[in-house]
Amino acid sequence: MMKLIIFGPPSAGKGTQAQKLSKKYGIPQVATGDLLREAVAKQTPLGVKIKSYLDTGKLGPDDLIVQLIKERVSKPDCKGGYLLDGFPRTMGQAKELDKMTDIDLVLNIVVDMESLVERAVGRRICPKCAAVYHVKFNTPKKTGVCDKCDASLIQRDDDKEATVRNRLKVYQEQTQPLIAHFKAKGNLVDVDGSAGIDGVFDQMVRAIDRLNK
Ligand code: AP5
Repeated sequence: MMKLIIFGPPSAGKGTQAQKLSKKYGIPQVATGDLLREAVAKQTPLGVKIKSYLDTGKLGPDDLIVQLIKERVSKPDCKGGYLLDGFPRTMGQAKELDKMTDIDLVLNIVVDMESLVERAVGRRICPKCAAVYHVKFNTPKKTGVCDKCDASLIQRDDDKEATVRNRLKVYQEQTQPLIAHFKAKGNLVDVDGSAGIDGVFDQMVRAIDRLNK
């Protein structure tokens, strides 16, 4: 049983690492961004409510997000633990999470601002399986096509530069303060996100394996 948070600013590499860790440790990735984008694509009642937040890079209301997480982590595949990616993102969400469960480790990816913009603007995603690529740093075998399921890759609507900069501002104002909260709980580890994808992964695996010793 292992419960982890992959923390960090927009486009730091949370999803990329969460997918790799999920495969290595056999626990599901619970990514609020992916769950919300799926709800928008399917035009569910939640998706209809949340679409304008995603489009502008604002955070969705805490009550809706907490409800979404509660429902997701109560599914059978989360019985052996899970990796939270994109949650919590406000102090209100962090307090609700504290009431729900104990977290073993928070892996905080640290990357400078300009690299974050470059990573977001060059990101391409698979609309079918949510695999993440980059036009320069993580290219698919065939340009514009997902290696895993052959679907055509797309650019996220919120990866336009102006929206990315707004998301970074929202992160600094509402999410970064959570670092102090995790530090006070004593379960935060900083990871140097300027390393390549494999370098970041190695640091995370070392931190997790220290936990399991
Ligand atoms: P969400 O989807 O969670 O967006 P985010 O936090 O902004 O994170 P990203 O998905 O942008 O980036 P990432 O860190 O996963 O990076 P990735 O691995 O893709 O949320 C979207 C929206 O949903 C929010 O704006 C908000 O509206 C709403 N929302 C979500 N959660 C919410 C919550 N809890 N409360 C309220 N609202 C919420 O990598 C980025 C790129 O960099 C990729 O192209 C990748 O290939 C590349 N890359 C990755 N690692 C490296 C590396 N080491 N070196 C070079 N390139 C790399």
